[in-house]
Amino acid sequence: MRNENPLFIVFEGIDGSGKSTLCKSVTELLLKKEIPAVAFTEPTHLETGKILRKFLRGEIDLNENQQIEAFLADREESLKQNILPSLCEGKNVLLDRYLYSTAAYQSGANFSPEDILKKNLEKNFKIPDLLFYLDLKPKVALERLSRRKGEKERFETLVQLEKIHAAYEKILPKNTIYINAENGPDQIALECFRIFLQRRNG
Ligand code: TYD
Repeated sequence: MRNENPLFIVFEGIDGSGKSTLCKSVTELLLKKEIPAVAFTEPTHLETGKILRKFLRGEIDLNENQQIEAFLADREESLKQNILPSLCEGKNVLLDRYLYSTAAYQSGANFSPEDILKKNLEKNFKIPDLLFYLDLKPKVALERLSRRKGEKERFETLVQLEKIHAAYEKILPKNTIYINAENGPDQIALECFRIFLQRRNG
């Protein structure tokens, strides 16, 4: 059955909050119920996302302005090539990070979270129908991250996580759905799924 009103759903949170896992599990729950759905991430896996991944791995440096411009460019492609075509096909789109991440992560000495949010909104990027924010204390996030294997990414220190957490609180819109990220992953996924159904049916 074609879904006439697909929703654009965004997941945000600091590193270690579990939003990537959540985005995947909610997508699986939807598909299991035969609800058309597709998941994407930002930075994307498109050409514009490659430079950002190099930056995140510490292989290249970008100043604050270059970071913002690179994330904006990637977001344009993300919308053009992934998000908008999928919504047009009737699929619900679940996106792991969006413009709120740029406002939170790229804010610093030169740009406030509000400045960066404004830059994004001026681009007329599509506003999500549902915005989930996985709320987690930076200390708990860092403990989780230190248990993970592999290389540390750029923003994974306590000072940075605290800055990012505070920045999110400044810019998240009023209708953001706050999720307590200390709850178990299955419980959180079901909570988001139920909220999705309510929104779709209501
Ligand atoms: P993340 O989403 O946590 O995925 P993974 O765990 O697979 O690496 O990592 C993406 C990183 O990109 C994260 O540290 C935040 C950063 N980022 C920004 O700094 N600005 C942005 O606009 C976006 C979308 C991501």
